[in-house]
Amino acid sequence: MDIVFASRHESNPQEWVAALQRALPEHRVRVWDTLQPQGQADIAVVWAPPPELFSHESRLTHLFNLGAGVDALLQIPDLPDGLTLVRMEDGGMAVQMAEYVLHYLIRESRDLGRYADLQAQARWQPLADIDRDAWTVGVMGGGVMGARVAQACAALDYPVAVWSRSGRPVAGAQSYRQDQLADFLARTRVLVNALPLTADTRGILSRAVFDQLRPDAYLINIARGDHLVEADLLACLDSGRVRGAALDVFSCEPLPPEHRFWSDRRIQVTPHVAGASLVSLTVQQIAGKVRTLVRGEPITGIVDRARQY
Ligand code: NAP
Ligand code: GLV
Repeated sequence: MDIVFASRHESNPQEWVAALQRALPEHRVRVWDTLQPQGQADIAVVWAPPPELFSHESRLTHLFNLGAGVDALLQIPDLPDGLTLVRMEDGGMAVQMAEYVLHYLIRESRDLGRYADLQAQARWQPLADIDRDAWTVGVMGGGVMGARVAQACAALDYPVAVWSRSGRPVAGAQSYRQDQLADFLARTRVLVNALPLTADTRGILSRAVFDQLRPDAYLINIARGDHLVEADLLACLDSGRVRGAALDVFSCEPLPPEHRFWSDRRIQVTPHVAGASLVSLTVQQIAGKVRTLVRGEPITGIVDRARQY
């Protein structure tokens, strides 16, 4: 197999190529060269690939995405219909997502942000004890990321619900189907978004949704920036409908320095790092799937283009 690595965002493509080559010594692995395309590639491993990859590499059969979300890939004009898109399935990201959510959930439910403020004033002031039943967590998306997040919160005895298209069961959580959104929101105080970005989910984090949450709600967005209607969040923060938000993803990344989110004390900003693609685990998964393909066996993680995830 001729395997190319193509990413406009990766600062060290050679690190990925070296790891892939070590894992797949019987195949040829190289960085795809925009200036000298060879037209020989069978497989591309990508994150934000240059669009010209597809016009030059007509032999490509499989596109392995370094991440779980394929929304950006699906927007590439002229993405060949016959090309099989393969997403990452966990690969070490889900546990990071769970850590991220737990951090902000605990920060809010245990008043750790307020204790940091009190420390700055050298004030010894115990606040109210936690009422765990008041911290109902609702996870939108019950896939690889959402299920792990839900299970981590449930393991700490937070009451957890998961909302997904199918309402598939998640251990330790109450499951809601797509048509049960209103019931899911009505019992949720901490709303966690782990949905894929699709035509159905774009802009879902809007005032209409925030208005249905329990009072004093908190938002954690670890999926995509375009899920959120930013003006609606700011309005709901100002009205007190939402108490705060932890945001890892943004419509415009990097978040511009002048953006209001940076300076709003009710918002915690992180630079799209909630679930990073770690080189060793990512390469291990992709190499395993390449070997499966070579054996002529089916692989998992194939994107259903019709449902967009
Ligand atoms: P996944 O395994 O495909 O799970 C997607 C879940 O969303 C499924 O439970 C699916 O329902 C549900 N869903 C899809 N469309 C829906 C709709 N219209 N209404 C209700 N539920 C819907 O995806 P994943 O691996 O968990 O990843 C989720 C997203 O996380 C990715 O797409 C990516 O955008 C984001 N992500 C972000 C980071 C980061 O660093 N911030 C890292 C990794 C991933 P069914 O179960 O019924 O199919
Ligand atoms: C990261 O955002 C991913 O989709 O894996």
